Amino acid sequence: MADTSKRTIVLTGASDGIGAVAARKLAGPDVDLIVVGRSASKLAPIAEATGARSFTADFSRLSEVRELADSIAASVTSIDVLMNNAGGTFDAKDITPDGHEPNFQIDHLAPFLLTNLLRDRLAAADASLVLNTASVGNLFGSVDLDDLDWSKRRTMGMRPYGTAKLMNILFTRGIAQRWTDDKIYSAAVHPGPAATSFGRDSWFVGLAYRTPLKRFATITPEQGAAPLIALAERGADPTVNGVYFDKHKANGRENKQAHDQALIDGLWSRSAELVGL
Ligand SMILES: NC(=O)c1ccc[n+]([C@@H]2O[C@H](COP(=O)([O-])OP(=O)(O)OC[C@H]3O[C@@H](n4cnc5c(N)ncnc54)[C@H](OP(=O)(O)O)[C@@H]3O)[C@@H](O)[C@H]2O)c1
Repeated sequence: MADTSKRTIVLTGASDGIGAVAARKLAGPDVDLIVVGRSASKLAPIAEATGARSFTADFSRLSEVRELADSIAASVTSIDVLMNNAGGTFDAKDITPDGHEPNFQIDHLAPFLLTNLLRDRLAAADASLVLNTASVGNLFGSVDLDDLDWSKRRTMGMRPYGTAKLMNILFTRGIAQRWTDDKIYSAAVHPGPAATSFGRDSWFVGLAYRTPLKRFATITPEQGAAPLIALAERGADPTVNGVYFDKHKANGRENKQAHDQALIDGLWSRSAELVGL
């Protein structure tokens, strides 16, 4: 069980990229760090280097997300910062075992479920922050509440990814509007084009991120992790509630759907239905 004198931070997607950098930076004597990945062997060196407790779950299986929430809830009394950072771009044709389009499930539905299942622990802190790693890609997203799984529309390149990242912002606003009585606040952040393993299955991203073009097109994983670390350290600040940061800058450029109240509410209720909340 956690040491309650420390701040408890839960960080998903800690096995690689900006999450791994953030885990190493956030670890310290005043922090009870929990790192989450999908591969135990890949996560082990991060857990060892940071002294964090570690849990694994593949977000393409919602049953694993439920087990993850149970395991975390059993090991902490409260959570000060939940960093929903796991995610990436996935081929829209690879339907998950739960029958969903993978960008929708891994980038939105799974963290939506995890966060809701950990709500009690977030409420148990004096005040808490849910920090969602979104993306500038939200600008080319398009949420259709009647086609969340892209069965009716053409997927076209990274559009399902951009849409899922737009959902991260809508979810952030959903939390901001619903959970402030419990002093649970939420912010979203675009880390910048960090040269991580991001877009590993996309030749287009690979071209910019893993060729000599990388020098011009990308920033380092350390630079990408910096805004997340800054917001996690800032913690439960009501002034960031519902705010989308473009790197360190509040109120970054957003898709016009990002403030659509019908979508904020509709996405919340459709997602809750889909995960059985
Ligand atoms: N890098 C960028 O340019 C950029 C820009 C905008 C937003 N972002 C966002 O930043 C976040 C972190 O990305 P990154 O750049 O650090 O990429 P990364 O190096 O590929 O790391 C992604 C992390 O998410 C985990 N993950 C992927 N699929 C998962 C699944 N099915 N279940 C559970 N965990 C899964 C990965 O686990 P494994 O280690 O097992 O693969 C890894 O820990 C993502 O949400 C991404 O959308 C990145």
